[in-house]
Amino acid sequence: MSLTGKHILSSDLFDRDELERLFELADLLVPVARGQQVTRVLEGAVLASLFFEASTRTRLSCETAFLRLGGGVTSTTGTEVTSIAKGETLADTSRVVSGYCDLVVMRHPEVSSIHEFAAATNVPVINAGNGAGEHPTQALLDMFAIHREFGRLGKTVDGSRIALVGDLRHGRTVHSLVKLLSRYEDLTIVCVAPDELNMPAHLLELAAERGHTVEESDQPSLGLKDADVVYTTRLQTERFKDRPLPYSDDFRVDAALADRVFRSDAVIMHPLPRDGRPGSNDLSPDLNRDPRLAIFRQTDAGIPTRMALFASVLGVADEIRDSLRPARWYRPEFVGPDDAPFYK
Ligand code: CP
Repeated sequence: MSLTGKHILSSDLFDRDELERLFELADLLVPVARGQQVTRVLEGAVLASLFFEASTRTRLSCETAFLRLGGGVTSTTGTEVTSIAKGETLADTSRVVSGYCDLVVMRHPEVSSIHEFAAATNVPVINAGNGAGEHPTQALLDMFAIHREFGRLGKTVDGSRIALVGDLRHGRTVHSLVKLLSRYEDLTIVCVAPDELNMPAHLLELAAERGHTVEESDQPSLGLKDADVVYTTRLQTERFKDRPLPYSDDFRVDAALADRVFRSDAVIMHPLPRDGRPGSNDLSPDLNRDPRLAIFRQTDAGIPTRMALFASVLGVADEIRDSLRPARWYRPEFVGPDDAPFYK
C-alpha cells in the first residue's frame, strides 16, 4: 500500500510492512531532525497546521518536521481567532484552507470533527488528535521510540509485554497505540486502569482477535510487574466535565513503585504532557534521572517520524536518501537533561 495522497485519520491504516517502511525512513531522517543534515524535498509545499485544542508537542513537532523537509507552514491555534467563532462550519473552513496548502494537520476536541473536515477537503488531512478518539501520529512516534529503545536493549517488539496505565478510556494516544501494537506478534498487552477508565472493549477485542494475550488490572503494583514497556498516561481531566475523578494515588508512577515493581530494563514512556502539579497522580518527576525513563527520547522521535509520514503522504519518500547533505551551522552533540541523550 502507498500512503501517497491518503488521509491519516486512524492508526488502522498502518500494517506491519507500512510501519517498517516508515521507521526505516524515520531512521534515515534522524540526522535531519537533529540538525546535522539537510533535505529540501518539500521545497515549495505548504502545511496548514490547525490546532483547535491545546498542544505543545504535536503542533510544534509537525511544523518543525515540515520545515526541516524544506516546506513552509501556515497555522492557527484555538477557535476564537478563526472564523469558526463567527459561525463558519468546519466543512467550509476545510474547503477554504485546502485551497491554501498541500497538507493539513488538524486537532479538534470533538471525535467526529476529523471525519467532517476530511470529507470537505481537497488535500490530505492528518489527524493530530480528535477528542478522546485517536492520535495516530503519536502512536507512530511511540512505536518508533519503542523500536529504538528495544534496539538498544537487544529486544524485539514481537513477544514482548507492554503495560498501558492510567486513563485508558479517554487517552487517545493509547487507542491508536493498541492498534499499532496489534500488528506485531505474540504480545501480552496489560491494561492497568480503574474500572471507570478501562480501555474501550472494541480495542481489547481487536488485540485478542489478532492473537495477543490481553490482561486487565486495576492495581499498578501487580499490572506493571515484568513489563518491557510501561506506558503511562495522564488523567484526561478535560474530558470529565464536572464528574468526580475516579483515581487514587496508587496510579502515581514514581521511583518507589518503579524500584519495587518494574524490570531493571523496563522502558518507561508517557506521551506527555504529564501533570506536574503537586498532588497529581501522574508520572512523577522523581524518575527524571532514572535511565529507564524514555520520555524525552520519545518526544525527540516525533520529528523524524512525522517527517517520514509527511514525505510519504506527499510522495517524495523515495527522494530522501539522495537529497541529504550536511548542515553547515553549529549544533551541539548533546544537550541535557541526563535522561535525554539524542538518538544517534
Ligand atoms: N502528546 C501530545 O499530543 O502532546 P501535545 O498535547 O502537547 O501535542
